[in-house]
Amino acid sequence: MKKGSGLDLSTLKRKRIMITGGLGFIGSSLAHACLKHGAHVSIYDCLDPRSGGNIYNIRDIKDSVELIFSDILNFDEISRHITKKDILFNCCASTSHSFSMREPWIDLDVNGRGVINQLEAVRRFNRDIKFVQIGTTTQIGKMRYKPIDEIHPEFPTDIYSADKSVSEKYVLIYGRAYGIRVSVLRLSNVFGPRASIHSGDFTFVNYFIGLALQNKDITVYGDGAQLRNVIYVDDCVSALIRAAVSEKSNNEIFFATADKHYSVAEIADNIVKHIGSGKVRFISWPKERRVTEIGDAVISNEKIKKILNWYPQKELGKGLVETKKYYEKCLGYYLK
Ligand SMILES: NC(=O)c1ccc[n+]([C@@H]2O[C@H](COP(=O)([O-])OP(=O)(O)OC[C@H]3O[C@@H](n4cnc5c(N)ncnc54)[C@H](O)[C@@H]3O)[C@@H](O)[C@H]2O)c1
Repeated sequence: MKKGSGLDLSTLKRKRIMITGGLGFIGSSLAHACLKHGAHVSIYDCLDPRSGGNIYNIRDIKDSVELIFSDILNFDEISRHITKKDILFNCCASTSHSFSMREPWIDLDVNGRGVINQLEAVRRFNRDIKFVQIGTTTQIGKMRYKPIDEIHPEFPTDIYSADKSVSEKYVLIYGRAYGIRVSVLRLSNVFGPRASIHSGDFTFVNYFIGLALQNKDITVYGDGAQLRNVIYVDDCVSALIRAAVSEKSNNEIFFATADKHYSVAEIADNIVKHIGSGKVRFISWPKERRVTEIGDAVISNEKIKKILNWYPQKELGKGLVETKKYYEKCLGYYLK
């Protein structure tokens, strides 16, 4: 089969899709893509001010989606809306590593109980749904061997990553125990349009992009030599859709990551080159960040290529150019 081919997007036509966390960065990008392919989209989100959600993310599709403004911790509400849906993408999360260290209970509520709520609603009211969960590459913690593959042991170094690791296991347990079709995609440093760019609490790439868009300097901790995998949001969206429509993804975990790895310093340089006119400055590690730092993260995407025939399409430079184009028109909505 040709690389990246074999995805019949017409299968999404008239599918009833629920996206929890659909006002966020990845969920709203997914909502746009699903609508484009003829699906009916319901977004379930409470626009938690501590997350990266932004109502502006759906400004151009607000009349085409059903918006359920509700908390994932409200089990009755999620149960009511889970019926008559074909696919559930769980993009809802408390997404900040540093916030999870400050407020571990909130992280556990959203990333633990929130996932159980969705799984229980599925088990009781709609076992025919396909459930796609998003995990994070930081579940791995410090790399024991490279490249990291899906059977690499997990030793997360922050509460968010630990909660994502556990909730991924909940998803797989429900898949095996109740015959529900589930799939997990672990993502890493996603960047692009609709991301939250105003705070260093979220993905560092998007924060750097936000600084560059304002022509501010970017500060890198230490020497920035640690390797990271960064991926453009459209590539993640296509991976999530592939996992949703394929039966080969059932009960499987995949790393949906880019082919190439860059050091943090190289990523910062690329952002300055393609987006802004500030400088890259190096400062010493704050203590609270150093304790959760994992060193190099080199990840293999061979499994998803082999099983789902998914190939990332957009390399860093091109993705940054697209990102700049998006924010130039609406920066004010993202610098809250
Ligand atoms: N962005 C990345 O680089 C990245 C990397 C790895 C994994 N992920 C995962 O991808 C998923 C989506 O991430 P994102 O970057 O789009 O995050 P985001 O913060 O932009 O979106 C999360 C959404 O969840 C909503 N939400 C939070 N708590 C809620 C609650 N209690 N009830 C209802 N809605 C609630 C927020 O309002 C927000 O709209 C998450 O599971 C995240 O862990 C993201």
